[in-house]
Amino acid sequence: GKYRVVSTKPMPGTRWINLLIEQDCRVEICTQKKTILSVEDIIALIGDKCDGVIGQLTEDWGETLFAALSRAGGKAFSNMAVGYNNVDVNAANKYGIAVGNTPGVLTETTAELAASLSLAAARRIVEADEFMRAGLYDGWLPNLFVGNLLKGQTVGVIGAGRIGSAYARMMFLKANGEQPVTWKRASSMDEVLREADVISLHPVLDKTTYHLINKERLATMKKEAILVNCSRGPVIDEVALVEHLKQNPMFRVGLDVFEDEPYMKPGLSEMKNAIVVPHIASASKWTREGMATLAALNVLGKIKGYPIWGNPNQVEPFLNENAQPPA
Ligand code: GLV
Ligand code: GLV
Repeated sequence: GKYRVVSTKPMPGTRWINLLIEQDCRVEICTQKKTILSVEDIIALIGDKCDGVIGQLTEDWGETLFAALSRAGGKAFSNMAVGYNNVDVNAANKYGIAVGNTPGVLTETTAELAASLSLAAARRIVEADEFMRAGLYDGWLPNLFVGNLLKGQTVGVIGAGRIGSAYARMMFLKANGEQPVTWKRASSMDEVLREADVISLHPVLDKTTYHLINKERLATMKKEAILVNCSRGPVIDEVALVEHLKQNPMFRVGLDVFEDEPYMKPGLSEMKNAIVVPHIASASKWTREGMATLAALNVLGKIKGYPIWGNPNQVEPFLNENAQPPA
């Protein structure tokens, strides 16, 4: 291969590897056991000659790494993720390195997890499962694991981009012959928080959305509301959330992401009214293979002189003015 492309992690499928090999690239995949690579680990991987890198959202792609990639002759970096809060795009641009992300292929998969967490939280499925496995079920009771009926309730979406809109469409599915659900653009986020029974968070993480859900905003939500987060952990002030869960046992959350990932803030793992899963929203086979393929195409395209495929600069702002009602 004429070009050297590095992937900081093994990725699903073989299509992405074949695409690169067919186009004159030598592919090097880091097989180091530790889950999260340090900046030093990645500098060693980049080495003296590297044309492009496929990296992961757990890595800190800032000035240091882009300088190292530039010294190695690198032209392209792609995150294997739609979110790119781990990437300093300005630093990359300074070194003439193009940055890609992987939008689109994970929209429905991520929205399906948000919908799953919404329903699982409403019906207390994880708590009930733990109860069964613990051998505690000794007969049907009228008040065993009573949860929320979602029919007729108000679903709120904060961040109506691709994923948020897909989530809304899923939650608004109705049986034939039923009254159509109504849809409206809220005049403010605070209106959504006050009025919705189920709220799913889908903003991009940036300075404007850090701790968007804080102590004060949690206090404005319904006591029995369900809050779902499949975006990025720091969108919620997790310490305030733990306190809110303690004070409001009927308030339930479904969390895919955490403020100090992979860690949870103290107390969260003990809360019965929280469902926690390890950042798996995009984890369907089709999607993960698609993300790997897009990431490879991003890097390959740039090496071959084409524009980048997934372009972070085209990511919707967090309240998308052009969001459409679900069809
Ligand atoms: C996953 O969190 C992604 O941003 O793709
Ligand atoms: C519950 O199982 C019922 O029959 O109502």
